[in-house]
Amino acid sequence: MNPAAHVTRSGPCQDRVVVERPRVLRASDEQVDDAVDVLRRGGLVAIPTETVYGLGADASNPDAVRRIFAAKGRPSDHPLIVHIHDADAVARWAHDPPAVAHQLARAFWPGPLTLVLPRAASVPDVVTGGRPTVGLRVPDQPLTLRLLERFGGGVAAPSANRFGRVSPTRAEHVVADLGDSVDLVLDAGPCRVGVESTIVEIVADRLEVLRVGTITVQDLERVVDRPVHVAGPATARAPGMLAAHYAPTAQVVVAGEDPTGDARAWQRLGRRVAVLAEVMPGNLPEGVIRLEPVGDPDGYARHLYERLREADHLGADVIVAVPPDTAGAGLAVRDRLARAANSSRGQRSG
Ligand code: TXA
Ligand code: MG
Repeated sequence: MNPAAHVTRSGPCQDRVVVERPRVLRASDEQVDDAVDVLRRGGLVAIPTETVYGLGADASNPDAVRRIFAAKGRPSDHPLIVHIHDADAVARWAHDPPAVAHQLARAFWPGPLTLVLPRAASVPDVVTGGRPTVGLRVPDQPLTLRLLERFGGGVAAPSANRFGRVSPTRAEHVVADLGDSVDLVLDAGPCRVGVESTIVEIVADRLEVLRVGTITVQDLERVVDRPVHVAGPATARAPGMLAAHYAPTAQVVVAGEDPTGDARAWQRLGRRVAVLAEVMPGNLPEGVIRLEPVGDPDGYARHLYERLREADHLGADVIVAVPPDTAGAGLAVRDRLARAANSSRGQRSG
């Protein structure tokens, strides 16, 4: 059965359509209450955020959190981000957060920034992968903020995809990847940002970016009064940040400005080729799948994962990707393309 057939939306004349499992509910107030019930019972709810959809569970319930790892096929030492309603909740999850954490929270929350801080003793080990720190984020998505407010606790949520694969930016992607293992999917349409949050670790007043997102190092440095460091690839402190990750089934190749030569070369080898680029060159060889122009770096980020999924769906063997320039979300897109390309070289680890 096509898993996408599970996706059901309430149209303007329909009250609500509930499907068996997972239930996919078009965002409304009443459905937020359903989601809160599922969380309180220890179930899994896929939640929309401005970055990507998350696979959420009650962060204070270790059994519920364990179900996330089982559903994703994710190694248990990979820590999860706890989503909270507002900066006041930091005190419940972090131990003695430094002033600079409050400064960043004030500047960027709700928004695509995760702060990794020394954990409070009460945070379950299963959430932090046994680490001394915890990742916290207030997502900028009205429906999910309402959910977090009514739930009252923290929601542990990684991206709602199978481990190592492309993150979901639509409810349909969640259903296709995780199907029956999610109890309820809150469908709020496509995500606005499209790539995962920037992660900053703050330990002993030192700031280090563990994952690049649309909030850049310069954005952070404008707010804080100290240098912001950037971690090297696959740092041991962020085990989920493997150099190889975010991969479609097709092989990803990062091209120079003009992908035509690469496309031709792969075609000559008998491969079905897709090209992903902001501006599609006019002289692409026949038969190449054109992954629709995306406009500018922010648009590229918004549509990146959907285009990678589309390439798989259309049976591409190779995706030749022209990276965007480094403005706005450009660096985050380049980072994800590089990781997807590494995965294609067989370095994926899970
Ligand atoms: O935008 C996002 O951050 C999305 C949405 C759903 O919020 N979440 C997301 O979660 O991308 P996930 O689990 O797919 O990626 C989170 C990354 C992982 O690489 C994990 O290792 C890292 O954050 N992380 C979480 N807690 C950490 C901690 N205490 N120390 C170091 N890294 C941490
Ligand atoms: Mg992820």
